[in-house]
Amino acid sequence: MKGPARKRAASSRSKTAGSRGKKGALRIDLLTLFPGIFDSAFEHSLLAKASARGLLEIRAHDLREEGEGRHRVADDAPYGGGDGMVMLAGPVVRSIEKLRGRGSRVVLLTPAGALLTQARARALATQRHLIIVCGRYGGVDERVAASVDEEISVGDYVLGGGEPAAIVLVDAVARLVPGVVGNAESTAADSFEDGLLECPQFTRPESFRGWKVPEVLLSGDHGKVARWRRKESLRRTLLRRPDLIARARLSDEDRVLLAEVRREEGAIAGEANASGENDRGGRGSARRE
Ligand code: ADE
Repeated sequence: MKGPARKRAASSRSKTAGSRGKKGALRIDLLTLFPGIFDSAFEHSLLAKASARGLLEIRAHDLREEGEGRHRVADDAPYGGGDGMVMLAGPVVRSIEKLRGRGSRVVLLTPAGALLTQARARALATQRHLIIVCGRYGGVDERVAASVDEEISVGDYVLGGGEPAAIVLVDAVARLVPGVVGNAESTAADSFEDGLLECPQFTRPESFRGWKVPEVLLSGDHGKVARWRRKESLRRTLLRRPDLIARARLSDEDRVLLAEVRREEGAIAGEANASGENDRGGRGSARRE
């Protein structure tokens, strides 16, 4: 999104506010003090192709266009004192109001928001128009909350501003818009889609520095491959994110596989203790045969 294109887009926005162009497409308006950050962020790979195909329409708008006074001020020191600058409610709320249509959903990015999850990304991907507000500096005037539908955080850490968080959010949401990822199955198999981490993946060569591709993946037996993948997905999740296992909806077959994994991992831990090793990383990640 280059400067002039951005300006053109911003000045034409009222005509299309709330609309969704191509059927099923998602329009995303980003409100920021630093629109330049997004210049190349969405010009590569999947999202660029999706935009070219009319499935996505992403625009960044400079909040200073609605800034106050001759200097287009958009932030100020916090009442009560303290570090950093707080974004003024006026420019943010006016920018939202200019863009908002009947089908719009307004998201404020803030470390105080609800954690971004795959489920939340999926819900946002069903919307027709997202307005994403990138907070900055010492935060955003609390009264902006009345103009916002939801507040989202991309993780339990503090970024310099909402812009990198917006790139994360847009990427996570956009790839779930129907048609953006070519094969619907490839998002269905993603980590987190079914509450589990994705299984390990391998490509050429068959042996890399002594680490061989698991035999089953070379067998051509689709049933065995599917079982292996599910089992390794369960193993990886159990070892790395046991919190997810506790919440995942597991089938009877999953429970059988999980019991096998637990037995195998218990045996590995037992062997490791006997030989004085303390971490073999699990059989799924056994490095060399
Ligand atoms: N702004 C600063 N830190 C953030 C975070 N973790 N998520 C969303 N917006 C932010």
